Amino acid sequence: MRKPTPHSSGAKPPKLAKSLIPNHVAVVMDGNGRWAKQRGLPRTAGHEAGEAALFDLVEGAIEIGVKEISAFAFSTENWKRSPEEVKFLMGFNRDVIRRRLDDMHELGVRVRWAGRDRKLWKSVIDELERAEKITAKNKVLTLNMCVNYGGRAEIIDAAIELGKDIKAKKIDPDKVNEKTLTKYLDVPTDVDLFLRSSGEERISNFMLWQSAYAEMVFLDVLWPDVDRRTLWHAIEIYAKRDRRFGSAK
Ligand code: IPE
Ligand code: IPE
Ligand code: MG
Repeated sequence: MRKPTPHSSGAKPPKLAKSLIPNHVAVVMDGNGRWAKQRGLPRTAGHEAGEAALFDLVEGAIEIGVKEISAFAFSTENWKRSPEEVKFLMGFNRDVIRRRLDDMHELGVRVRWAGRDRKLWKSVIDELERAEKITAKNKVLTLNMCVNYGGRAEIIDAAIELGKDIKAKKIDPDKVNEKTLTKYLDVPTDVDLFLRSSGEERISNFMLWQSAYAEMVFLDVLWPDVDRRTLWHAIEIYAKRDRRFGSAK
C-alpha cells in the first residue's frame, strides 16, 4: 500500500467537514477531441492526454476522502464514431487498464467494470475482469470504469434479470421496490456529485438511475486539462449546495 503522491503544485485538498464530502462522484471525461483540435492534433492525441487527468483525479479523491468514482470512458453511443476512433479507444482503454493496474492496487483502489459486454472487444473485457479480480478486496476507493456503459442499457439489463428472477419465483413482484432493482445494476451506489468537463451541460446517458438526486457541476475545462484540483473545486461548489431530497425545512 502507498499513500497518494501530493500534487506537483503542492496543492492540498480544501478543509471541509466530512459530511460535506461526496461519497460517490460520477465523472464525464469530456472534451478530449476539442483539446486536440485546438492544438492541431488528431482527436486520438486528446484521448491520450486525458489519461493522466483521470489518475491524478483518483489520487486527489483519496486525499479528500471520496470513496467511489465512476469514470465514463466509453458510452453505448460512442460506437457511432468513426471506425478508426472506435478502434483507437478500444485499444487505448485496454492498455490504460493494464498499465495502471499495479498502481491502483498499491493505492488500495478497487477497480470495477460497469457496462455491457455486447460489441466490446474481448481483450478489453479480459483486462477489466483481471483488474476486478486482483483488486477485489481493496477498500480505499472504488473506481468504476464505465466502458461500453449506458444508463438506459444498465436499467434494461437490470429489468431483464429481475424479470427472470420473478419468473423463477425467487422474487415476489408485489415486493419490488427501488432497493430491489438497484441490486441488479452494475453500479448500485447513489451518485452525490455529477461532474462533467468541457462545458457541455448534459448527462449523455450516464448514471441515470444513480443520479436521481445528484448535484450537477459542469465545468468549463477540457478533460486533458483536468487534475485533482478540478475535483476539489467541484467539491467546494458541491459543499455549498443545499441538498433537500424533496423535503422542506
Ligand atoms: C471524451 O472526449 C472522450 C470520449 C467520449 C471517449 P470527446 O472525444 O467526446 O471530446 P469532444 O467532446 O469531441 O471534445
Ligand atoms: C460522453 O461524452 C461519453 C464519455 C465521456 C465517454 P460524449 O462526448 O460522447 O457525449 P455527447 O455526444 O457530447 O453527448
Ligand atoms: Mg464529447
